[in-house]
Order: sequence, then structure tokens, then C-alpha cells
Amino acid sequence: MIIAIMNQKGGVGKTTTAVNLAVALKRNYDNVLLIDIDPQANASIHLGIRETADNSMAAVMLGEKNITDIIKTADSNLEVAPANIALAGVELQIVNEVGREMILRDIVKDLYHDIVIIDCPPSLGLLSINALTAADKIIVPVLTEYFAMEGLSDFLKTVSMVKKKLNGKLEILGYLATGYANTSISKDILQNLHKHFDNQVFKTIIRVNTSLKEAPGTGKSIFYYKKNCRGYEDYEKLGEEVSQIIKNKI
Ligand SMILES: Nc1ncnc2c1ncn2[C@@H]1O[C@H](COP(=O)(O)OP(=O)(O)O)[C@@H](O)[C@H]1O
Ligand SMILES: [Mg+2]
Repeated sequence: MIIAIMNQKGGVGKTTTAVNLAVALKRNYDNVLLIDIDPQANASIHLGIRETADNSMAAVMLGEKNITDIIKTADSNLEVAPANIALAGVELQIVNEVGREMILRDIVKDLYHDIVIIDCPPSLGLLSINALTAADKIIVPVLTEYFAMEGLSDFLKTVSMVKKKLNGKLEILGYLATGYANTSISKDILQNLHKHFDNQVFKTIIRVNTSLKEAPGTGKSIFYYKKNCRGYEDYEKLGEEVSQIIKNKI
């Protein structure tokens, strides 16, 4: 199962979710791979992995390397295919290629992993389209703050276009409320999410938590950085909920 973590807004918790959900899923699945397709390489750096362009998804997207040659291991033997800033150039380079939307799908099609999580850039550009074309499911993190729902309709238009033209199996696995605080705005946004997307909203809510903010600086997921914090509890719960949903779908 290939799951893209996507929302074209920046700072909504995509990377935090990709990293911590991937590690959480290691409890239930032996082989989990996190692919970082964001030129900012935040997910890779979060897990203490800084790679050159040659040893990153940039080289893989250009067909210069096999994905299995660049995979590293991080927390709890999570496998990571790291990003590099060179991916920004790669996105421009592949624009004129035939089958430019399907490059990543071809790269992942022979992988043996039970779960592949893709951390996407904050845009609806060609790298994100590649992720949507490769994915079976999408998790959409939504920050429970002002302007959270803005842009979601553009995003959903892109999803339905990709589904229609490139990837008929694509589905939203769920909307994930992130950065939840005990405030009226957080409650409003959560209510709104339920109103619009009903049973597609995850029961698990990711609360605001300072440890989640600190963990990237340590090169570790929340599970290896700090026990007994909200971030740990919430992502542990999300891992269980996602595992359960996947089990029911297969
Ligand atoms: N639940 C949370 N509580 C506190 N800070 C968070 C939480 N989730 C993410 N952050 C912080 O917010 C910022 C943006 O999160 P990030 O996951 O990088 O978003 P995106 O990948 O969507 O741009 C980062 O500094 C991250 O550490
Ligand atoms: Mg990110």
C-alpha cells in the first residue's frame, strides 16, 4: 500500500505526519519505506539523513540510480529514500518528458515493502502529481487554524483529475486534524472538517505539542525522542487507526 501525505499548503504537518506515522506503522508492518520527494528534504533531515543529489531521489527520478541503491535506515529500521534540494531542478527537467507524471509510479512498482509513505512538497507541481499517480491512498493533514480549509478545493480538483486520467485506484484514506489546541478556532475547523468530509476524518487528532517541534532537531522520530508526551500518544494512536483501516480495506 502506497500512501501519499499531501496538502499543497506548507506548515500543516505533512512531514511530521509522514515521519512519525511511518515509524508508528513499523509496529504492525515489517517493511515500511518513507520516500521523501520534497526538495526541502525535511523528512530526511528529521531522521538525521542528509544526502547528496547523487544519493537521493533526485538521481532516482532522473533514472540515474535504482531506488534500492539510495535507501538508508533510520529509527526502528525504518527505510528512507532521502530527498535533496536538487529535486527542485529535477522537477523542471522532467517537464518535457513523455510520461512525466508516471516516473515515480514506475520506480515504486516493484518494491516489496508492505507500506510506502511519500512525503510531498507544499505544491501541486509535477513532483506532487508523480506522488498522486504512484499512490493508492492519500492522507491530508489539515492544520486546525485560520485559512485551513482554503485551497482544499483546488487540491481536491487535482486529486480527481489524477484519478480520472492517470490513477483510477486513488482514494483519500482520511483527513487528519493537526496542531489541535483547546481553542474555539481549533474546534471550529474540526467541526467544519466533519461537516464537509464526514466519516473520512480520522478519529485521531494530532494535538499541539512542543516535543513534536523539537524532535526534527535531534534526527529522531517522536518515538525515539520522547516518551510520555502528547505527540507520542497521538501518532501511536494514528498508527493503530491507519493499520485498522488498511486491514479492513484489503
Ligand atoms: N502537532 C504539532 N505541534 C507542534 N508543532 C508541530 C506539530 N506538527 C508540526 N509542527 C511543527 O510545525 C512546523 C511545520 O510542520 P511540518 O510537518 O514541517 O509541515 P509541512 O510538512 O506540511 O510543511 C514544523 O516546525 C513542525 O515541527
Ligand atoms: Mg514538509
